[in-house]
Amino acid sequence: MSTIAVIGTGYVGLTTGAYLAHLGHQVTCADIFEEKVARLRKGDVPILEAGLEELVTEGLAAGRLDFVVGAAGAVEDAEFVFLCVQTPQGEDGSADLTYIREAAAEIGERLRPEAIVINKSTVPVGSTRVVEQTLGRDDVFVVSNPEFLREGSAVYDCLHPDRIVIGSDDQAAAMRVAALFESLKAPLVITDPASAETIKYASNAFLATKVSYVNALANVCEAVGADVREVVLGMGYDKRIGFEFLKPGPGWGGSCFPKDTRAMVRIAEDAGYDFGLLRGVITVNDEQYERMTAKVERMLDVPVDGASIAVWGLTFKARTDDLRDSPSVEVVRRLQAKGASIKAYDPAISGPRPSLEGIEVLDDPYAVCEGADVLVVLTEWDEFRWLDFAKVAGLMRAARLVDTRNLLEPAAVRRRGFTYDGLGRA
Ligand code: UGA
Repeated sequence: MSTIAVIGTGYVGLTTGAYLAHLGHQVTCADIFEEKVARLRKGDVPILEAGLEELVTEGLAAGRLDFVVGAAGAVEDAEFVFLCVQTPQGEDGSADLTYIREAAAEIGERLRPEAIVINKSTVPVGSTRVVEQTLGRDDVFVVSNPEFLREGSAVYDCLHPDRIVIGSDDQAAAMRVAALFESLKAPLVITDPASAETIKYASNAFLATKVSYVNALANVCEAVGADVREVVLGMGYDKRIGFEFLKPGPGWGGSCFPKDTRAMVRIAEDAGYDFGLLRGVITVNDEQYERMTAKVERMLDVPVDGASIAVWGLTFKARTDDLRDSPSVEVVRRLQAKGASIKAYDPAISGPRPSLEGIEVLDDPYAVCEGADVLVVLTEWDEFRWLDFAKVAGLMRAARLVDTRNLLEPAAVRRRGFTYDGLGRA
């Protein structure tokens, strides 16, 4: 059992704190927002994340998990300090290290000797050194340990990692960090800090590349009369390719891919390399929003200006309530700009959200379809499959459906009277 402090209680910090407590460690999580800390102390988790509330409740009840305001109060007894603060995108696409620097400056003097500060935030190559310098201590270690959890399955991903990456110049410090995760029995990659930092960007950029590839492929399939689902099926059995991250959609979004792909282009540029391939991946994604908007326009039998559009799904993917950089919202905004009026439903969204201002959000999937000229599926929530499509068709002015996630079975919805268009299939 080790004594651990976690600085920052966002997706990564809160999940990290909760699962380290679950593994038997003594964990104190710190955040700057008093209200958030007060809620967390009661086991009230502010994000939608399967299994997380249970893990937090378990940690609190066992006395292995606590929440405090401010980093300073969390680190004094800690053998390990995880930095899990946000790294937003700076003006020029690079990652903004302000929060990391602030946290490091705050804890520097308070760390006990031999403590290990572990960077879990996604930070540009060289940040381990920045943290070392900001801490200003030669009796503590700084180690990079990037996180690969996905929103929506954060707890599962943490407890069943494909690999654990540790970047350190000090082998003994790396082994101490590795011991924290021993019970997970995951493959270990122990490397230097710059490689560990690069692994995180390289992984996200590669996954984004796969999605942009399949989105571009879907366009080709539409043009040549092939079915992208069949094509992916035929490709995926090749072990070198696999089935993952080859689902076409309205583009990739969320709090990571857009920020990390741009940061990777920038990191390469600063080092004198023009990462044209990755710039292309980003361009394909930017164009995808417009393609989806045009698809909806083509489906309409009335002008888009003045059309009434029903939308299912607003979050950037299913099983999360996160709207950050959501392609769904991006497509909605483009349709609104063309004069369409939108009514939207999302199972994870109720009540007003600043990023949805001007979009009418109802809490019933059928209600949004009343009198609509077209229905657009933008997020792949499983529950959409099980709705009564005969009823939906009856409610709409015109039974027309654009399925940007290939979520539905075309034959089944056509039988219920819909004109259907998916992605990359006839
Ligand atoms: C991503 C990575 O998958 C995690 O490994 C990483 O830890 C995380 O970023 C991070 O850097 O913190 P996440 O942003 O939660 O996780 O979302 P993903 O599940 O990767 O999806 C990203 C986007 O790609 C979503 O908009 C999703 O809809 C889209 N996507 C994904 C597709 O359109 N098709 C696919 O086949 C897969």
